[in-house]
Amino acid sequence: SQAASSLQQVSKACADGENEYANLDWDNLGFGIMPADYMYTTKCSKDGSFEQGRLSRYGNVELSPSAGVLNYGQGLYEGTKAYRKEDGRLLLFRPDQNAIRMRMGADRLCMPCPSIDQFVDAVKGVALANKRWVPPPGKGTLYIRPLLMGSGPVLGLAPAPEYTFLVYASPVGNYFKEGLAPLSVYIEEEFHRASRGGAGGVKSITNYAPVLKAIARAKSRGFSDVLYLDSVNKNYLEEVSSCNIFLVKGNVISTPAANGTILQGVTRRSVIEIARDHGYQVEERAIAVDELVDADEVFCTGTAVGVAPVGSITYQNRRVEYKIRAESLTQELYSTLEGIKTGLIEDKKGWIIEI
Ligand code: COI
Repeated sequence: SQAASSLQQVSKACADGENEYANLDWDNLGFGIMPADYMYTTKCSKDGSFEQGRLSRYGNVELSPSAGVLNYGQGLYEGTKAYRKEDGRLLLFRPDQNAIRMRMGADRLCMPCPSIDQFVDAVKGVALANKRWVPPPGKGTLYIRPLLMGSGPVLGLAPAPEYTFLVYASPVGNYFKEGLAPLSVYIEEEFHRASRGGAGGVKSITNYAPVLKAIARAKSRGFSDVLYLDSVNKNYLEEVSSCNIFLVKGNVISTPAANGTILQGVTRRSVIEIARDHGYQVEERAIAVDELVDADEVFCTGTAVGVAPVGSITYQNRRVEYKIRAESLTQELYSTLEGIKTGLIEDKKGWIIEI
């Protein structure tokens, strides 16, 4: 569309004349906020459509104290990444899938949502405008964070009268401080991440603060992250705080079915497709916690996390360890997905957008 191409022209103009790379220690990126130069913003009223968005310098946003998002958590977020190819071009991985997921979440939280094209154009615009913040190949990625929020004022519990769609970005390295080393995961028994009929299946901001206490407790005991069980039977695996989980047994890969309480990860779906293409059987089903004892491998998937091997899982004071092998299936899936995302492996699926 015309609006989209003008946004991309503006984005390119923003990046022009800037140094090729921002002045950062590219060898030591973690997963902390290091805001890139520009963000994208657009607004709309409750019944309207989003106006043409604009890029501005990254900075604070002004909100009414009675904004729906601040009072009642009417907000969604997304996460996607831009990669720098050896030839300098930027690659985006399936941003349309994030746009589709945001639409599902917006429906659940009674919010209007940008169209898929507007969402993807905003992501492209933010990536291009912040090109100097996209790490050199192999050093990390530009993490792009779209937000949709009820920004208008409400007092009674109701949808906000105005909405803001905002996209900002930050260069990142590995999500966990362990880097690419295997994770030690703790299974939480007191807290659950989501309940049946709740909003666990969409990327509502309200799914995240309630797990902070479980994460803090697990980290204080030396674990990397927490795995949650279902809240009804307290027996079936759901997901880790920031990623989905998979088990490998022989040639069969299993992952909890997306039945409304777990997030339908873009990486989760992509890994399932790659595994099937590679001839593995993939099952999406209820997985009892006992099955962890017999698994050959366990790994996590997520945009931020990537494909991360799990080295141990602790449940009720019992620790199960997994052998980490160079030739593992986890490694095969990791390398294939990373290869596609970074342009080293041919994208036969139309997953990559080169900008
Ligand atoms: C992502 O993987 O993009 C997420 O949204 C998880 C977040 C906790 C960093």
